[in-house]
Amino acid sequence: MDNLNVTWLSCPTMTSTPEILVGQTLVLSTADPATAQHDSRGAVLIADGKVQAVGPAGDIRRAHPDVPVTDHRDRLILPGFIDAHVHYPQTAIIASWGKRLIDWLNTYTFPEEMRFGDPDYAEEIAARFFDISLGNGTTTVATYCTSHPESVTAFFTEAERRGVRAIAGKTCMDRNAPEALLDTAARAYDESKALIAAWHGRGRLGYAITPRFTPTSTDEQLHALGALWAEHPDCLMQTHLSEQTDEIAWVRELCPDARDYLDTYEAAGLLGPGGLFGHAIHLTDREKDRLRETGAALIHCPTSNTFIGSGLFDMSLARTHRVGLATDTGGGSSFSMLRTMAAAYEIAQLRGQSLHPAELLWLATGASAAALGQQHRVGQLKPGMEADLVVLDLASTPAIKQRADRADTIWETVFPTIMMGDDRAIHAVYVAGNRV
Ligand code: GUN
Ligand code: ZN
Repeated sequence: MDNLNVTWLSCPTMTSTPEILVGQTLVLSTADPATAQHDSRGAVLIADGKVQAVGPAGDIRRAHPDVPVTDHRDRLILPGFIDAHVHYPQTAIIASWGKRLIDWLNTYTFPEEMRFGDPDYAEEIAARFFDISLGNGTTTVATYCTSHPESVTAFFTEAERRGVRAIAGKTCMDRNAPEALLDTAARAYDESKALIAAWHGRGRLGYAITPRFTPTSTDEQLHALGALWAEHPDCLMQTHLSEQTDEIAWVRELCPDARDYLDTYEAAGLLGPGGLFGHAIHLTDREKDRLRETGAALIHCPTSNTFIGSGLFDMSLARTHRVGLATDTGGGSSFSMLRTMAAAYEIAQLRGQSLHPAELLWLATGASAAALGQQHRVGQLKPGMEADLVVLDLASTPAIKQRADRADTIWETVFPTIMMGDDRAIHAVYVAGNRV
């Protein structure tokens, strides 16, 4: 599997004054705990928006005696979390009761998304979304917008204002949704193309061509977006794949000639290393093979999969496929990547797999960065990376503290926060070296 390396997101000039952050450091370069480096008194030197050095606090302080120090004491410094699949327009309808996928879309999602033709509303929700996701330690997202170009403009404008690295796209739909949300094949192509020209590669922003999923895109629209991707191969492409069995049966009815669900995308030119396939739960062997051969990424959305009753993602695919982790808010029931890691752990347990805390943390950072082709910029704590960081309080509630207090290893110390933590565990967040 080739390592996707998306080069388009240039690093803008980032200004942040030099600072040394002291705390526990945990450096992961893979999901394997044997390769992790933990320092109970570590430090991270940040300057110019980037990580300049990571090492023992004493060494870093001696080497840079004039640089101001922020001592986070025994809190844990990690790369900021990366949410590889989210729907910012669904912020206000998170935790809506009692439906499965298609009913949930029709009952809650589409009526809410219809409101995003109003730029004021889109701006309000984009700001609210960043407040909540940054408050949960998430510093990079790949989001769906709505079919309104205004919703994309509102999102990117807010991301740029806050200086965050973000990926987004206009959600294209030309069938099986309310009239007010439908575009056409030509409009999907034209509007997406104009948004790419306006936003892709601007500062820390990147564009993902975004057909919602086959049930809401005709073959003509999928082909138009495949052609657009061929013209802009350095964009990402995000969509949904095989989330629920009813959805797969519907795709079979809509596309009787396709070999399987993935084939509806593949035939349209929408399968490749920059492809992000949300959910990917009920896959055939052929689909798994093609996803691996093409280097596409599977995005695991565990709280969504339990909340809307979709199924149990097979984490053993991470051995052979590129796999990222995501909230899928508002199908997902949490904005927290801690809660999302916990749900990934629980789903794996139901499949007889036990994910190590290192695997969970890697999924939410380095693996999600790699899924988005951003592994050379974010997702790891090492020199040269952009200084998007989260500082975790590992004793944020009495229940977590009493368990962490009797831990012997860093893994035992961090696991209660992964399983029981929420935004109270987020002590500090840095975006491009600036505390937010
Ligand atoms: N499939 C198509 N659209 C959506 C969506 O908005 N959320 C989820 N979870 N699945 C989808
Ligand atoms: Zn989704």
